[in-house]
Amino acid sequence: MEEIKIIKSEYITSAVSKKTCPEEILPEIVFVGRSNVGKSSLINSLTNRKSLARTSGTPGKTQTINFFKITLNDRREFYLVDLPGYGYAKTSKTNRALWAKFIEEYLSSGRDIKFVCQLIDIRHEPQESDLKSFASLIEKNLPVLIVATKSDKIGKTQRQKHLNAIQKALGVDAESILPYSSVKNEGRSELLDVITASLIK
Ligand code: GTP
Ligand code: MG
Repeated sequence: MEEIKIIKSEYITSAVSKKTCPEEILPEIVFVGRSNVGKSSLINSLTNRKSLARTSGTPGKTQTINFFKITLNDRREFYLVDLPGYGYAKTSKTNRALWAKFIEEYLSSGRDIKFVCQLIDIRHEPQESDLKSFASLIEKNLPVLIVATKSDKIGKTQRQKHLNAIQKALGVDAESILPYSSVKNEGRSELLDVITASLIK
């Protein structure tokens, strides 16, 4: 069988309400996590594009729900969905509440979400906001893959220890957590495999 590859990645739209999400319904893979954890960078790594999704060293870069349409070499299509980060202190309370409400609405809107990647920095224990986000995804019956980001930032010996700590804090098994480095593209082919497998269902 031919290896599955991404042959096209295009930005579709930035949604700010349920109504402004794309009309065309395709399977969706969603990226959630704290501001600055590396959601937009992961989308660029996955699609092999430098700046398909805008990234920044300053938290709070992504402020809308951004849809990217991906085409595989076997012609299957799906969306990668980049969400604004949570836990970002610098925006107003009103603004944060609005985003939270909209994200909540999007995740519950009955779109064809195959699974959600919840990103957690491999160097840190899950924080209160991560635990809350995880619980709310589970409550919605959304399948969750934990992606431990910036794996290039810690040494090989620390790595397993940190993965175990994240696993334990969330109460998930080893198969539900994937280390990823957008700098080294580590985890890329594994994540593509999970995505293509989810499209069949
Ligand atoms: P918001 O849009 O603010 O929610 O942030 P985000 O989660 O989209 O993070 P973004 O992708 O913009 O990355 C934040 C910072 O982390 C940037 O400076 C990236 O270069 C850096 N970064 C992201 N992924 C990695 C990684 O795998 N390794 C390293 N070393 N740095 C990374
Ligand atoms: Mg972002």
